Amino acid sequence: MNTLPIIALDFDSSEAVHTFLDQFDEPLFVKIGMELFYQTGPDLIASIKARGHDIFLDLKLHDIPNTVGKAMEGLSKLNVDLVNVHAAGGTDMMKRAVEGIRKYNDNIQIIAVTQLTSTTEEVLHNEQNIQSSIEAAVLNYAQLAKQSGLDGVVCSPLETSLLTNALGSEFLKVTPGIRPEGTSADDQKRITTPHQAKALGSTHIVVGRPITKSDNPVESYHKIKESWLS
Ligand code: C5P
Repeated sequence: MNTLPIIALDFDSSEAVHTFLDQFDEPLFVKIGMELFYQTGPDLIASIKARGHDIFLDLKLHDIPNTVGKAMEGLSKLNVDLVNVHAAGGTDMMKRAVEGIRKYNDNIQIIAVTQLTSTTEEVLHNEQNIQSSIEAAVLNYAQLAKQSGLDGVVCSPLETSLLTNALGSEFLKVTPGIRPEGTSADDQKRITTPHQAKALGSTHIVVGRPITKSDNPVESYHKIKESWLS
């Protein structure tokens, strides 16, 4: 799997996605989330792959092990490069997810969402009834993901060094919450620059609005890529 910055294609139609991609004349790594996939389905995936781009299909599966395993078997046919599940689904579910996604394609990598960045310590304690810090809860889920055979986790860049120390540098740390210096944070709370994310141990970064809402998406992407690779 390549290590290009992953562009979050948070658009509301296939047409908008292709209009955006038309501006680029190079292979990209893009993220398709549930908003878009639930409307456009596998056809959009096939058309993006046909353009030569890698795809992170960000559907965050979470159900009983059999259902997730069977759903992953279906996704395994789509020729995507990276998929994910919620670690909260448990180790049986994660193991079945790995088996399912590798059914037709050994090369697809699979990562776990640990705690959503929208989860505060108050929600963790009072709603999930987990009486630890967010960091300890993230580490616990990341360890379970590794034990279940997953390739890594989605996490905040500010959590990556903790996970690298515990789980090694090969374990994928895919991090949103990235903002180049001088750009709007939008609704992201805990942000780093691409360069800081790399220094902290992210293996991949996910960047949306700083590229998709830019006046010059190609230039913004290249600046982010340079900062990330430097
Ligand atoms: O536009 P922006 O760079 O904030 O987009 C980040 C992308 O990463 C969005 O698609 C968002 O849903 C996703 N994401 C996130 N935080 C997480 C998990 C996913 O921002 N914890």
